[in-house]
Amino acid sequence: MKILSIETSCDETAISIVEAEGGLESPTFSILGNSLFSQIDIHKEYGGVFPNLAKREHAKNLSEILKISLTQANMFENGASYEENTWEKIKFILKREEGLYEGFRKIFENISAPKVDVISVTSGPGLVPALWVGISFAKALEELWGIPVLPINHMEGHIASILLQNEDKRLVQFPALSLLISGGHTEIVYMKNWGEYEVVGQTLDDAVGEAFDKTARMLGLPYPGGPQVSKLAEEARSENMEKKAHFTRPMLNSNNLNFSFSGLKTAVLYYTRELTQDSDITLSIEDMKDISREFEDAVIEVLLKKTKSALDSYGVKTLIIAGGVIANNKISQVFTELENEYKGLIVKTPVKNLSTDNSLMIAGATYINLILHPELLCKHEIIANGNLKLGQDLK
Ligand code: KG4
Ligand code: ZN
Repeated sequence: MKILSIETSCDETAISIVEAEGGLESPTFSILGNSLFSQIDIHKEYGGVFPNLAKREHAKNLSEILKISLTQANMFENGASYEENTWEKIKFILKREEGLYEGFRKIFENISAPKVDVISVTSGPGLVPALWVGISFAKALEELWGIPVLPINHMEGHIASILLQNEDKRLVQFPALSLLISGGHTEIVYMKNWGEYEVVGQTLDDAVGEAFDKTARMLGLPYPGGPQVSKLAEEARSENMEKKAHFTRPMLNSNNLNFSFSGLKTAVLYYTRELTQDSDITLSIEDMKDISREFEDAVIEVLLKKTKSALDSYGVKTLIIAGGVIANNKISQVFTELENEYKGLIVKTPVKNLSTDNSLMIAGATYINLILHPELLCKHEIIANGNLKLGQDLK
């Protein structure tokens, strides 16, 4: 099955073309084309992602990104011509996306339909204006090329990220648990099988990635702060620096699998205020390292305790950890070590470049959906759903 997948839920514009085979027993994916443009440098100035700016940037770049992926896949072929009526329909589909129609027509005026079976696009969760551009773009391609478009849940994409480009060839065995840790989500998902998801724990306020980003901002570091806080924390550990800061571990002992990270963020705020005496004094690099390490330790302690209690209650065979925050070396190491503690447990994490948002993971989730429900390969009415939940989709 050849899949063309599109991801625009936040600040990454990404399109891949992937050939999948082997079924869900032993899925393998060959990457034929893959292009990703990160808007980080554009949003950095504002300290976070602005939905309408993200939407505009996606609209500006989507056509070019698709051209790159198609070219890599040897599928960017001239020779077609389309009726004016088709272009009118596409103009209508793209009417809310400034500049997209003109750029799209210029690039695809004579390009033949690529030999792919399905086009898939993230329909949620994420930033609604950003999701809409991707959906409209996919719908325009459906109109032009007659290839059906399938909506995909971004979080199922993160789960599926472990299926792609992985040295670890061990298969996922069920039942499984997924710990999803990203900029927008922190949740524990019980999986009876592929496609059967039950969220059994989640954050009541901030997501882990968001807490990393907010902590970074309090330390004066640019967006997205996760990688920088993690780098400082690593330095504090390798230099064996004395521990000064101590932060709360929110909900560590609550009798459920939920999380809360806003209290931790507030603890960092009060501590930095105390150090700087609420004035213009800047934090020393030593304090920044110490705060980063203590923040990360607090996060790890909570994530680990909740995950272990989920493992104890659900007795699963596989633990998947996915989402941008698993790019963090320390977190990845601590969770991988659970294999030593839980005999027989398989712990799976994505390779680094598939931890943060990308379109390959969307192709992975597309394959899962179509193997389980081949009847979904048809025309759908697709709407962006910023709060789309796992399990709440087409089936
Ligand atoms: O999955 P993702 O790319 O986007 C969402 O779906 O939200 O996750 C992005 C999040 C950001 O909050 C970013 O700071 C965090 O992942 N992140 C990290 C690291 N790399 C990215 N957090 C901690 N340590 C890292 N090395
Ligand atoms: Zn994500």
